[in-house]
Amino acid sequence: MKVLFIEGPNLNLQGGREPGVYGRVTAGAIRERVQQAAGPLGAEVDFFQSNHEGAIIDRIQAARPEGVAAVVINPGAYTHYSLAIRDALAAVGLPVVEVHLSNIYAREEFRHTSVIAPVAVGQISGFGPHGYVLALEAAVAAAREKNDVRG
Ligand code: DQA
Repeated sequence: MKVLFIEGPNLNLQGGREPGVYGRVTAGAIRERVQQAAGPLGAEVDFFQSNHEGAIIDRIQAARPEGVAAVVINPGAYTHYSLAIRDALAAVGLPVVEVHLSNIYAREEFRHTSVIAPVAVGQISGFGPHGYVLALEAAVAAAREKNDVRG
């Protein structure tokens, strides 16, 4: 089962960017944690990060023909206003799990709104890098449920 992880703007800086908010675990180390969790879950993970809205949309659109079963997305600041990413996720018709390192509801008011959440199965917010592992588990479960595969 293929799970595609998509990260939006500035998440390539993870580990050095606002460490008081996002912690010091690097983007690469987070990917390693997810890779390690994937094996026992029977999942194969692919990662994509871009600072560009259109590139993220192109990646979402390519997911279904590639046989991706579920998408995990941390859209970064696009979370709060990208209707184009929301529409792309709705169009692709795959289970989507939204993930955030920080607790977006404990931060500035503009972060309290996610335009992505209504097209996601659910959202994981505030658990730091461990949230990505939780998101992987949720994505695998959602894809299994969708395909009615027991496990
Ligand atoms: C974020 C939260 C967003 O509000 C912010 O713009 C980010 C990171 C998070 O993972 O906590 O870039 O998505």
